[in-house]
Amino acid sequence: MTRFMLTLLALGMGNAQAAQIVMEDQSQLKVLPASAAAAFSPPAESELPDNAFGKMVREGHALFVDTRRLMPNNVGNGLNCSNCHLDQGRMANSAPLWGAYPMYPAYRKKNDKVNTFAERIQGCFQFSMNGKPPAADSPEMTALSVYAYWLASKAPIGVEMPGRGYPDVPQPAQGYDFGRGEQVYKDQCAVCHGSHGEGQSVANDYVMPPLWGKDSYNWGAGMHRINTATSFIKHNMPLGKPGSLSDQQAWDVAAYINKHERPQDPRLIEGSIEKTRLKFHANDGVNLYGQKVEGVLIGQGTGK
Ligand code: HEC
Ligand code: HEC
Repeated sequence: MTRFMLTLLALGMGNAQAAQIVMEDQSQLKVLPASAAAAFSPPAESELPDNAFGKMVREGHALFVDTRRLMPNNVGNGLNCSNCHLDQGRMANSAPLWGAYPMYPAYRKKNDKVNTFAERIQGCFQFSMNGKPPAADSPEMTALSVYAYWLASKAPIGVEMPGRGYPDVPQPAQGYDFGRGEQVYKDQCAVCHGSHGEGQSVANDYVMPPLWGKDSYNWGAGMHRINTATSFIKHNMPLGKPGSLSDQQAWDVAAYINKHERPQDPRLIEGSIEKTRLKFHANDGVNLYGQKVEGVLIGQGTGK
């Protein structure tokens, strides 16, 4: 049974209003069967040529999986690129680099312009890594782009391939619930990510990435949207058991994680959470920035 049919069933076929919402929301069409997502496979490391190009690919790979250590001036939190783009940027449904590279340049609503691939990566540095983006013509940006280009070898250009991004998970009829999310978190996430979302570190280096707090993604990152975190979590977490959470559990736990404080949105306008909410968050998916949850204003940011 397709997810689309399940959604209709979950909403109750007799409910005219709910059916109308489903008709308007085409996002479920992007959820592809696992067999389709496996259609493209990036080249194996053994296929890398032993020349200048191969060397650059290796450098880009190293920066992607060890970003924090190798680019301390550009990373402001405890994360590496590969923490959210799993299997070194190769995994389908984990925003793989091979799905991304052939889709740029592309217009992005986020900064209201056509972005090159380098500009797209700069966005992840600024928000997901809470850092300072390297220049578009820096050796690091070249290496990261060359790595993505190589992973996309033989992929079509300008065609959205199955497995790109984090496929949408429709919001259940019941919405989401912080209490249920907390329970999912305690049962299935805390063992690795810590009971306060702090991750785990050994010798000052994270072996399990933090989910909130000063070393996590900031309030401007795509992952701060509950819908985007849900999509990531549903298809990638708990690590080693992708797809095991129900849609409801994924929404609940994503909402629980994203009600916790994290570094401020670097686009903060005149120190005002409300102005920043209106300009950048009011039309940005499902998010809690600038709202009150359980009497507390969300989006105050954590000290660094
Ligand atoms: C906290 C999680 C997180 C981290 C860390 C992160 N990203 Fe991302 N990245 C995302 C999210 C979320 C998206 C948006 C995916 C979508 O649109 O569905 C994204 C999108 C992208 C895209 C575009 C994907 C596409 O298909 O258009 C690229 C390229 C990318 N990231 C590269 C990087 C690089 C390089 C780094 C490290 C410097 C990095 N990311 C670090 C979460 C992260
Ligand atoms: C077995 C350990 C383990 C469990 C259990 C686990 N994770 Fe993760 N999680 C990881 C690791 C490791 C990464 C980074 C992946 C990588 O670098 O390859 C990660 C990455 C993440 C990220 C993106 C990176 C970041 O820090 O923001 C999120 C969000 C996340 N996990 C949420 C969850 C949620 C929610 C659950 C429970 C439903 C969960 N995880 C369960 C180990 C785990």
